[in-house]
Amino acid sequence: MNAPTNFAIIDLTAIAHNVAALKARLGPGTELWAVVKANAYGHGAIPVARAALEAGASRLAVARIREGVELRRAGIDAPILVMGYHLPSEAEAAVAYDLIMTVNDEVFARALDLQARDAGKRAVVHVKVDTGMGRFGRLPDDLMPFLESLASFRHLRVEGLWTHFATADEADKTFTRQQFVLFRNTAFLARNRFDIPILHAANSAAILDLPETYLDAARPGIAIYGLYPSDEVSADAGLRPALTLVSHVGRVRTLPPGASVSYGRTFIAQAHTRVALLPIGYGDGIHRLLSNRGQALIRGRRAPIIGRVCMDNMMVDVTHIEGVQEGDEAVLIGRQGDEAISAEEVAAWAETINYEVTTSLLPRVVRMHTSSTSASPW
Ligand SMILES: Cc1ncc(COP(=O)(O)O)c(C=O)c1O
Repeated sequence: MNAPTNFAIIDLTAIAHNVAALKARLGPGTELWAVVKANAYGHGAIPVARAALEAGASRLAVARIREGVELRRAGIDAPILVMGYHLPSEAEAAVAYDLIMTVNDEVFARALDLQARDAGKRAVVHVKVDTGMGRFGRLPDDLMPFLESLASFRHLRVEGLWTHFATADEADKTFTRQQFVLFRNTAFLARNRFDIPILHAANSAAILDLPETYLDAARPGIAIYGLYPSDEVSADAGLRPALTLVSHVGRVRTLPPGASVSYGRTFIAQAHTRVALLPIGYGDGIHRLLSNRGQALIRGRRAPIIGRVCMDNMMVDVTHIEGVQEGDEAVLIGRQGDEAISAEEVAAWAETINYEVTTSLLPRVVRMHTSSTSASPW
């Protein structure tokens, strides 16, 4: 295989393993719906969706209608829940591609109802209950009147109610438990009046720590990629990180003392310094906060990033690494020899979370999906 300069290897065997591990944790009474929004958190939506479905996910969840359309156009016919906010003008595609919309207001509901009528369909919808996330959805007190108004739309069928936890990834679960109780009580009242078969709430953190929240379906995202939502949740699920990010050493040369590296001259060589160019930068999704802070693995050793990360390039100090030459692999996330750089370590350098590290990878980084039977690169 001809390796591109920068690529991400996504181990679909790890994805399948993680889905199976989470499914086993959920038990037979709870479906697993794989959250593959934002290009499957950077891992490549279509291959990841297929792998997750094969491994036992019964549905997919995305944030945007266009993400659902992309999956449908790839031939995926599993039910797809769209969780995010949309303009009424997008209702036509939702109906045409049989996406299950989350409906939060009458205006969108009306648009969807009209489109479904014209298409001779009954659109399946879910309603989000805002129990403490404060983004969108109906407040608990306002759910019944909203369900009443939805009942007047003859081309809609409310299949599910859901909520989303704001702090499930924190050690203190008090607020999450409050959210859950509020959701359960609100849903109970709604179900006294309306036939709504599916309730769902749990994200990865709740799957790991709060079995009482499992309900009819759970919506894991980060965990199916083999990453834990935070370091405050149980890390006992045996998850395997699926993504390895690789670049290659370009030019290598020795700079004399006093020479500066990259924009702003934030790095000045104190001694003779062997510098390797890595042709990857923030135009590929590497956070600029890694400037003078992050590291890469070359020949199984850590090479510090020196100077500012540029759009297309960065420089690393390889003075202490024997024999570095053009073409050597440079691992930015993943294992090389005895060393490994995790998405969490990168996140700490970039002052963010592992979610953003993988989701930030831009299309210029070639995704290579493998289904190796061998152990994961981790
Ligand atoms: C509504 C909703 N459900 C589920 C998830 C999955 O969360 P996680 O990746 O923490 O499992 C997300 C992700 O942000 C979400 O927005």
